[in-house]
Amino acid sequence: MSTPAPERLRVDVLTIFPDLVESYCAGSILGRARRAGIVAVNVWDLRAGADDPRRSVDDTPFGGGAGMVLAPGPVFRAVERFCPPRPLYLLSPAGRRFDQSVAAELAERGAFSLLCGRYEGVDQRVADHLVDGEISIGDFVLAGGELAALVVAEATARLVPGVLGNDASPGEDSFASGLLEYPQYTRPAVFRGHAVPEILLSGDHGRIAAWRHAAALARTLDRRPDLIAARNGLSEDEVRLLAAYGYPLGAAAAGAPDEGSPQDAGAPVPEERDLS
Ligand SMILES: C[S@@+](CC[C@H](N)C(=O)[O-])C[C@H]1O[C@@H](n2cnc3c(N)ncnc32)[C@H](O)[C@@H]1O
Repeated sequence: MSTPAPERLRVDVLTIFPDLVESYCAGSILGRARRAGIVAVNVWDLRAGADDPRRSVDDTPFGGGAGMVLAPGPVFRAVERFCPPRPLYLLSPAGRRFDQSVAAELAERGAFSLLCGRYEGVDQRVADHLVDGEISIGDFVLAGGELAALVVAEATARLVPGVLGNDASPGEDSFASGLLEYPQYTRPAVFRGHAVPEILLSGDHGRIAAWRHAAALARTLDRRPDLIAARNGLSEDEVRLLAAYGYPLGAAAAGAPDEGSPQDAGAPVPEERDLS
């Protein structure tokens, strides 16, 4: 009998709410990748490190203050018992900011572990003497590290070959090449009077690729000029490309294409941002 190939990615999650993590995994691409044997997600209960009958994992903060803190004893003991693969990262608002490049780094590693905090946070000795680093998923505060761990696990797993199937490529997603993705459209070609850019119906793959690159540049200039700055601005070819699709540099930077021309030329129409 042949032994199955090892998973391409292993992520271990330590949490006091293993069911929360398991239930999301079961219904998501993480679960599908798990069932396909491409990704292993092991979820460990931090309460296994508790040493009292009530399985306590938290205590009041020294120095006073609101809320409870995850105590070092249960966390250290759980890690020593389960030996999750290193590096082990604590999810924390004080950590390194997670982004697509960190996801790519983690996917490349092949195995890592995530420790979820709760309450007011985790005893600092865990950060100082147990974990290998800290990861933040943004400048906001969640009630616990479980959602953050799932964000990290899913964004990383998407980059592992085979997880998305054959028909999707993470290489074309936003951030993969330092740009936001171009706008996507599907049928119908005209919906409530709004037509898709004509070039997408042309069947000319070369022109469509050029338009998509222009649209991605224009959208990134408009919404995330910091990303354009991070790649040292636009090349001369890119400036010419934007102009060819009705996006003179100044107008594109302001998010407004040349009047009258973009739809005909197949250039993207800037959309209102809707965060509701
Ligand atoms: C309520 S938070 C603790 C926040 C802490 N008192 C502070 O102000 O930094 C509880 C746990 O949620 C997780 N968490 C909250 N926000 C996060 C973020 N932006 N990124 C990663 N983890 C986060 C961490 O594991 C944290 O220990």
